[in-house]
Amino acid sequence: MSSAINDRKDAYGDSLTGRAKFLLDVIDAIREKVGRKFFLSIKLSVIENDDATLPWPVYYGEAIPHLVEGINVPAAVAIKQRVKIPVICTGDFQTAEGILRALGRGCDAVFIARPLLANPQLPVWLKEGWPGPKDPPCSYCNRCLLNVIEHPLGCYDERRFRQYGEKSYEEMIRRVMAIFPDKTDAGWL
Ligand SMILES: Cc1cc2nc3c(=O)[nH]c(=O)nc-3n(C[C@H](O)[C@H](O)[C@H](O)COP(=O)(O)O)c2cc1C
Ligand code: SF4
Repeated sequence: MSSAINDRKDAYGDSLTGRAKFLLDVIDAIREKVGRKFFLSIKLSVIENDDATLPWPVYYGEAIPHLVEGINVPAAVAIKQRVKIPVICTGDFQTAEGILRALGRGCDAVFIARPLLANPQLPVWLKEGWPGPKDPPCSYCNRCLLNVIEHPLGCYDERRFRQYGEKSYEEMIRRVMAIFPDKTDAGWL
């Protein structure tokens, strides 16, 4: 749906209606196959500004965590007010306060991506009553996003491991590689 990417001039381009038609036709086709009761979700980038091709870190990288957590909540709430289906908000959630604020404003749930790479135990800690990550939080640096093209999925912000001093790099790589049992000393962790 991004006008920065979709430059078609046919029925699937040009206006917002045209660009949305592609998505809506795909949804209709899936629904026809799977029926009404099958769970189907779509993910929309709600803030567009015709700049979808700009690198993400221009806006979010190195951001101050408490200022960006829930950055998409106002847009999600605006959508929620116009639809009758559940709306799940994504974007920088990693504290109980931020998540509860989103739910309190009307979002049905939140999705979490990068903060779970930084702290995979985060949901357990939140459930136990911790206000957020026990270990250094996700810095939103997006190094994970750049690395995933060629390297295993994981947190690549070495600064989060500075408590290990000269071994910070080794510790970071050890955690990234922990999903490969034959590549770690400890086997399955
Ligand atoms: C390594 C990585 C891969 C991602 N791949 C996709 C993808 O394939 N499709 C997508 O819609 N979003 C993708 N995202 C974006 C996330 O789903 C999410 O919208 C984004 O990271 C913001 O949420 P967060 O602040 O909780 O990380 C990816 C994010 C990361 C970090
Ligand atoms: S590399 Fe780590 S700190 Fe940086 S955005 Fe990804 S998970 Fe967060």
